[in-house]
Formats: sequence, structure tokens, C-alpha cells
Amino acid sequence: MRPVAPELLVNPGRRHDGSVARSEVRSAQLHRRFPGYAPTRVVDAPALAAELGLASLSVKDESRRLGLPSFKILGASWAVYRLLVDRLGHEPEWRDIDDLRAALAPLGHLTLVAATDGNHGRAVAHMARLLGYESRILVPAGTASARVDAIEGEGASVTVVDGTYDDAVRASAALAADDVLVVSDTSWEGYTEVPRTVIEGYATIFAEIDEQLAAAPEVVVVPMGVGALAAATVQHYASHATIIVVEPLSAACGLHSAAAGRPVAVPGPHDSIMAGLNCGMVSIIAWPAVSAGVDLFVAVDDTAAEQAMRDLATIGVVAGETGAAALAGLRAALAAGAAGAPDLRGRRVLVLCTEGATDPVAYRRIVGEP
Ligand SMILES: Cc1ncc(COP(=O)(O)O)c(C=O)c1O
Repeated sequence: MRPVAPELLVNPGRRHDGSVARSEVRSAQLHRRFPGYAPTRVVDAPALAAELGLASLSVKDESRRLGLPSFKILGASWAVYRLLVDRLGHEPEWRDIDDLRAALAPLGHLTLVAATDGNHGRAVAHMARLLGYESRILVPAGTASARVDAIEGEGASVTVVDGTYDDAVRASAALAADDVLVVSDTSWEGYTEVPRTVIEGYATIFAEIDEQLAAAPEVVVVPMGVGALAAATVQHYASHATIIVVEPLSAACGLHSAAAGRPVAVPGPHDSIMAGLNCGMVSIIAWPAVSAGVDLFVAVDDTAAEQAMRDLATIGVVAGETGAAALAGLRAALAAGAAGAPDLRGRRVLVLCTEGATDPVAYRRIVGEP
């Protein structure tokens, strides 16, 4: 594979007028009661920081989160919980999952549905299993078999949609029924409440980081698919840090939307190995925060993601292709620069590694044995 130059866009819509309010973290009270909850680690990477000319480089390692290999369970669990509590009509008393399952019994039999590039759907299926529901997960054509197997391993029935992730989202929306609840991490006209709670769920990551880092980061770098994670990042950091989001060159819907000044669709095929970022359309409820709070959009090719996977392995972080994207984008931003781009050198930088080796065969080919 020949490397393709990255694209950088200094966000013309960035606002510094406090228009993005910092939100309260409500989700942590749920996550702390989950079986096996522990804050994920932050890894200090002094050698990489020195190589890149940074004051420090901290990597928040989301390769293991509540028993799953990505951060996505934080949003899926909070969204499912809020959805069910709203249905129940009151917040029940509960201490552990068994209590919660019993408290939700009056809701009867339900099926949870989600479209996914892998991680969100697996997380929704996991929640369904914990709470005793069925789940049906829709994936785009070409989804790695390891990812499909992992979702089926949570007891879900998996449907491969002949099309892109965006097609899978449309197909999942059509399944909604009284006893079939769609739990999407992206939003569309008329469907905003659940994805709003998904964004809220991700705030647990940043609440942990506040307690883990002695000094707040000056630059925060995250991967972007539909932009829910980016919106949560903006809600936490926009007032005091430079925010960089990273997408694949072939599915840079954030970068193209920022350039256009409104959400625009990027047509498929979206075939990057950064599978979690293969999204052609931003989430409409994430967009106001993303467009006002992100400083720099960076789009990278697959070779950059592979290099970042190898870089992360040197500091003991096992990152999947999507998980490594943020570091790939940071490297690209430092190397390429862009007119008007913030100077990143000498800064304290935080990178989110959002996923472990969710496709182990690919991981062994790119990096070696984990
Ligand atoms: C591992 C991983 N990182 C990042 C993202 C991007 O998150 P969002 O779609 O909220 O932008 C995804 C989305 O599926 C993902 O699976």
C-alpha cells in the first residue's frame, strides 16, 4: 500500500465564545455499578513525546472497558439504561445488575436493535444479554468476520446489510416497533434522544482523566466516525484545550462538513481498515458541538493507522486500527502542518486509543503477536 498524504482543515467554524457548555457527568453513577468497573489506564509515553517534540504524551487506553475491547459500552450502556428507565416511568433502586434486571421485569420481553461498524453493536448486544433481552445487530457488507463473531458471541442475531454503515443505520431505523428498541449512536431527523444519551455516556472517560492526570491536557486528539465521541470531547475540553479529530481519508465526513459549513454526506465505498470510522454522515445532534468546538480536522490513510498501531505497541498499548487513528492523526498534524493550525510542539497532549485488537488476524499481520 502506498502512503497517501493526509488532509488537514483548520475549522473555520470554531468558536471561542463559550457557546459549547461543559456538561455534567451523569453516566459515571451507572458505570461504577457495573460488574468489573475500573477506570481505564492512562499510559505516559515519554519517548514518543520526545520524538514528536511534545512536552508530554498521555494515551488513555480504552482497549479494555467493562469486559469489552472498546469505549463504546460507555455510551451504549447509558443509552439503554435511560431508555428503559424512561419506559418504566421512574428510576428504580438497584445495586447490581441482578437487581436492575429484576426492577426492569415489568417492561416484559424486548429486542434491542443497532447498526454498527462493530463496537457499538457489540456493546448493545452485551447490554441486552446482561439485562435478559434479545438483540439484533446490523452490520455493513465487508465487516470482518472476527467482529461479526464477537457480536454473535453476545447472543445477538447479526444481519449483514448489502451496503455501507449508513445503509445499515437506515435499515435498523425501519425495525423500530413497540417491543423493538433502536439504540443508535447516530441521530437523524426525529431520532435524537437516544444518541444524545450515548454522547453523555462517553463523559465517564473524561471524568476519569480529570482524576488521573496531574495537569490538564492542552491538546486532545480523538477519532471521529459520526462524531458522538468528538461531541463528548468538545463538551468537556472546548473551553481550555485544542481539540483535533481524526478520520479516514475515504470517510472524512467531519472534515468535508466543516469545509462546507453544514453536514454533507461523503459517498461510499467507505473501506478504510479504521472500520469504526467508516461513516459517510455526521450525527446531526453531534454536529453543533463538533462544528463549534473542534480546532483541527485531520484525515489520514490506512498506512498511517498501521504505523500508529506499531507505535502504540512500543508503549504496551494493543490498539486496533480505529483505536490507533488518533495517534496517526497527531503524527500527521505535526508533520504536515496547515496554514493557521495551532502549534502543537512543546504541548501536553492527550490521545484517546479507543479500541483494542478487535480483528486479531489483522493485528498480527500489521504489528505481530499482541
Ligand atoms: C473504536 C472506535 N473509536 C472511535 C469511534 C468513533 O466514534 P463516533 O462514531 O462517535 O465518532 C468508533 C465508532 O464506532 C469506534 O468503534
